[in-house]
Amino acid sequence: MPDTRKSENTTASPAQDSKAKVEAYLAEQGNKGLLRFLTCGSVDDGKSTLIGRLLLDAKQIFEDQLSSLENDSKRYGTQGQNMDLALLVDGLAAEREQGITIDVAYRFFATEKRKFIVADTPGHEQYTRNMATGASTAELAVILVDARKGVVTQTRRHSHIVALLGIGQIVLAVNKMDLVDYDQGTYDAIRADYRAFAASLGLDNVTSIPLSALNGENVLNATGAMPWYQGETLMGALEAADTGADRADGPARFPVQWVNRPDLNFRGYSGTLATGRLHPGDEIVVLPVAKTTHIERIVAQDGDLSEAVAGDAVTLTLRDEIDVSRGDVIASAEGRPETSDQFQVRLIWMQDEQLLPGRSYLLKTANQITPASVSELKYKINVNSQEHEAAKVLELNEIGICNISLTSPIAFEPYGTDRTLGSFILIDRLTNHTVAAGMIDFGLRRATNIHWQSVDVDKQARAGQKHQRPSVLWFTGLSGSGKSTIANIVEQKLHAMNRHTYLLDGDNVRHGLNRDLGFTDADRVENIRRVGEVAKLMVDAGLMVQTAFISPFMAERRMARDLLADGEFLEIFIDTPLEVCEQRDPKGLYEKARAGEIKNFTGYDSPYERPEQAELTIDTVALTAEQAADEIIAFLKQRGYLEANDD
Ligand code: ADX
Repeated sequence: MPDTRKSENTTASPAQDSKAKVEAYLAEQGNKGLLRFLTCGSVDDGKSTLIGRLLLDAKQIFEDQLSSLENDSKRYGTQGQNMDLALLVDGLAAEREQGITIDVAYRFFATEKRKFIVADTPGHEQYTRNMATGASTAELAVILVDARKGVVTQTRRHSHIVALLGIGQIVLAVNKMDLVDYDQGTYDAIRADYRAFAASLGLDNVTSIPLSALNGENVLNATGAMPWYQGETLMGALEAADTGADRADGPARFPVQWVNRPDLNFRGYSGTLATGRLHPGDEIVVLPVAKTTHIERIVAQDGDLSEAVAGDAVTLTLRDEIDVSRGDVIASAEGRPETSDQFQVRLIWMQDEQLLPGRSYLLKTANQITPASVSELKYKINVNSQEHEAAKVLELNEIGICNISLTSPIAFEPYGTDRTLGSFILIDRLTNHTVAAGMIDFGLRRATNIHWQSVDVDKQARAGQKHQRPSVLWFTGLSGSGKSTIANIVEQKLHAMNRHTYLLDGDNVRHGLNRDLGFTDADRVENIRRVGEVAKLMVDAGLMVQTAFISPFMAERRMARDLLADGEFLEIFIDTPLEVCEQRDPKGLYEKARAGEIKNFTGYDSPYERPEQAELTIDTVALTAEQAADEIIAFLKQRGYLEANDD
């Protein structure tokens, strides 16, 4: 998972304002072990108060934070005249006003024994995304429950994500014990309930602690109020946890963050060593191209190193000139990671818009970015019962098991082996938002096992024989806008000019190749994906193709465009207003949609995203279909698609 601590997702907290102080402090604490953990709980479980208490009792609050806390408490606090510890961690003004935590805030603190980085992740249902972000580097999770409520759906969801992310150590903090009169029976019941659930997730390293963050019971100091509890305090448990210092043990994995080329004499590859160790002279392999060479130098800020250890940010130079790009992985030649372009993965879907199998997203793992789509959604997981449920799409916060397909191979490891090369995010190609976090289970087959069979008669040869320039005229627009009618006339005209053509029409294709598809968003994505692939094959056959599909989504039109070479794809927007389509209503479908007889009808209860970069926009209010076709032919001539062979 990429390190998001520096991303804009991170709360602009007081601690970051004094970044230099924190760095100096961390350097000073340098010799102590470091534990990264995260806290998760529902809104109002008292999570922020708990972290505030840890920080305050550990006496590690910076002075500037304290004074701002006093001021804030007076303005926003929910604790009367007392300092509101929650404000210490709820960084943004907006959050304070809403009274909820909305982003990941990282805090640094230390005790005599070790230092800590805590990711405070939000508990609000829709903020699962931030939790997964905060969890990606954590070694332990504090799962907070309210003693009055016990284990709730959100607790199960968080635990599920924690398990998915491979965090093996759990502290169950049963908070607000003061509100149940410090009752042992209540605590024991919650503890048993949670343990049974956690065991079903394979989480068996669970430490349960009854506490009151508000009163400081069992946070840093052992309790006076719960003499029946003999176990550790929260801080004791944090100090005793495993710190995962074993990352240096595995084989070396160095995802290249950027190619460092200040002048012609130096070419280095910068990044952070994710696992293992590297030395000058070590034999390495560059993936996914799989070229081997040796490390020449390891350059760090203060000069060359004789060894780089996991976690070090360095620049490597190589003995041989190999073409290494950003996103490639430099790995020890022995025990190298696999490469593949097909995976089974676990996905946590993080946005309101559904995951649509077949849609093209960008997959980012370590520093590699590749277009990817879900080729098969196998099932989703019910977070309460652990049951597998059939699913066609994933909704916000849902967890699914899917096969994913990339346009080019990447170096990877199963998530269970390596969290850096085994985790990824999916990014929406239009909005650039992160839409999912994912974990690789395994590669489905080695990319190298399926070759592109080269054939001797190629696109150019086929097109040459037909004396034409192959292309796709991609007609898009509402139902009844005139796509099929105009495309049909265009085809006639091209045919009359001795062009070799083929018209792929929505209604016709849906009778055969796509007769298994309906009109849900997911089915429309698949419809256009297949049509895009067929159009590509036809272009390869040297044909001039016309397609007439509503193709309502920008993402799939773009995907179809990306399948073809530059200049082969011409998007023609048949821009007929909805009212005009309704009036024309050639198939009587608008009337049925109005009467509620057809669901998911484009323009009614299913969206149409207008093209932003169509090569040609046709106004069918001003033009007849014949005139529109003439305009398209004129456009093709003008752009050089109809040279020679005109008669
Ligand atoms: S697309 O959205 O997946 O691109 P496509 O162009 O294949 O749609 O099919 C659209 C045609 O199917 C329409 O012209 C219309 O004749 C018919 N149709 C039937 N139901 C619907 C619906 N719910 N929405 C849109 N078109 C529908």
